[in-house]
Amino acid sequence: SSELPASGLRITLTAGPTREALDPVRYLSNHSSGKMGYALAAEAVALGASVRLISGPVALSTPAGVERIDVESALEMQAAAEAAFEDSDIFIGCAAVADFRPTEVATHKLKKQAGEEQMQVVLTRNPDIIAGIASRSHKYRTAGQPAPLIVGFAAETRDVAHYARDKLTRKRLDMIVANDVSTPGLGFGSDSNAATLLWHERDSIAQQAIDACPKFALAREILLRALTLHHH
Ligand code: C5P
Repeated sequence: SSELPASGLRITLTAGPTREALDPVRYLSNHSSGKMGYALAAEAVALGASVRLISGPVALSTPAGVERIDVESALEMQAAAEAAFEDSDIFIGCAAVADFRPTEVATHKLKKQAGEEQMQVVLTRNPDIIAGIASRSHKYRTAGQPAPLIVGFAAETRDVAHYARDKLTRKRLDMIVANDVSTPGLGFGSDSNAATLLWHERDSIAQQAIDACPKFALAREILLRALTLHHH
């Protein structure tokens, strides 16, 4: 209905890990559960948005009303994110994208050789998906064209605020959600999270701390802040 805060808005999210293939049966990945991104997708629907969720492989069911696009690798995630750009009012990058992928993907299963005690794998840097989307947004706005508001995440184990400010500026994001993943019971794989939201306000960076709370409650705070920034 039209009185919900995000009615008429299209929100695109990335969530979960990526998998970078080594051969047909093996991959490099990380422990991202996708819970934060899925909580954001569910809350965005509850706020009235039309939601597209670009998801790496996770063990979560698709929230009701969400359009889910399944991807595996960072390159697949990037292609899906680029394709969603024109159709998005807000883009939220929640995925734990692998920084590197094996340079060569073997066509057949790699076999261990007799006496082979070490093996070396050469990796290639993956593109920074959100930085690419954000620089495109910046170009569109400079040209006076509409472009999505960009929200990123920064999971750190130390100097959280420092690294988050740096990422906000360097990746040209509109807002960043910084969280300390070193706190036991919070962050990765957990149902709760604490975070600080940072965004550009006039010529400085404003921030809002959110105490540990269920991920869906944090998701709502993030979305309400993003909606405020989008309306300005
Ligand atoms: O640089 P770092 O990985 O800490 O940045 C985290 C933020 O950047 C998250 O929003 C994440 O989804 C996004 N990211 C991305 N593509 C990458 C690496 C990170 O979109 N290759």
